[in-house]
Amino acid sequence: LLTPDMVTRCRLAAVRGVPLPSDTAQLWGRIWGFQARPDDLLICTYPKAGTTWIQEIVDMIQQDGDPQKCYRAPIYQRIPFLELCPPRPLPSGFEAAAAMPPPRTLKTHLPLELVPPSFWEQDCKVIYVARNPKDSAVSYFHFQRMNQALPDPGSWDQYLETFLAGRVPWGSWFDHVRAWWDARDKHRILYLFYEDIKKDPRGEIQKVGRFLGRELPEPVLETIVEHTSFERMRENPMANYSTLPTFVMDQAVSCFIRKGLVGDWTTQFTVAQSERFDAEWARRLEGSDLRFCTRL
Ligand code: A3P
Repeated sequence: LLTPDMVTRCRLAAVRGVPLPSDTAQLWGRIWGFQARPDDLLICTYPKAGTTWIQEIVDMIQQDGDPQKCYRAPIYQRIPFLELCPPRPLPSGFEAAAAMPPPRTLKTHLPLELVPPSFWEQDCKVIYVARNPKDSAVSYFHFQRMNQALPDPGSWDQYLETFLAGRVPWGSWFDHVRAWWDARDKHRILYLFYEDIKKDPRGEIQKVGRFLGRELPEPVLETIVEHTSFERMRENPMANYSTLPTFVMDQAVSCFIRKGLVGDWTTQFTVAQSERFDAEWARRLEGSDLRFCTRL
């Protein structure tokens, strides 16, 4: 199906000022016109915020805590990635979504202003997960190294500037988390933090359950906590992307489920880089009450 010659590191192309993979930008009209249904659930994140983690949690809740049902297919097939446009003849995310029987759960990394308007017209529920920007930047750096379909990140020193400037796929982290935060009371949005899920997986999973209108009996809750732990997801081929060929994701370069820590940035940033980053962070989120935890 997919052959090595079909996979190349993509270029970025701006859609309303936001850099996206050029194949996505090319099919933008189809994505913007996507028809949502009222029973759609949208999972939205800036890349590397724990998308796969919340996807597995949501699928486990929807499958009443039955891991066997979650082993039915890789996570990227269970929950289509709306704006992903892989090489033809593979279906685009929006095509896979359109072919899916309801109720559907879909994944997106789109910033708020690029979410297809039908999701708001249909008043869909959205789960947004945010992760502190320092760990996000480190995770994204290693991901761009291993994902052969994304731009080469260059050195860490170079990448940090690229990230701060928002010249990465899906644009600026700052604009993304801020706009979604400001919209959380205008729509049916559950805004979660990666660091909270690390600290209290039980409590956060219960929160998701309540948002989805599901009671989670104690044994079900326990199974979900266990099945979605870092260790279990790292070894689960239906969650760890090891089902993709190495010419797409080269896990010898860096594992998809890599470290799963809060505060791993301290092993990557120099003190000067951390100070430079903090200054930019304060400037970009000035006036916002959005706060992140960077160490547990
Ligand atoms: P690291 O690179 O810091 O390890 P996404 O799914 O949005 O691409 O995010 C990937 C990040 O989430 C990776 O971070 C990955 O290790 C982490 N992750 C995935 N599953 C996790 C889990 N069960 N617990 C904690 N972190 C997890």
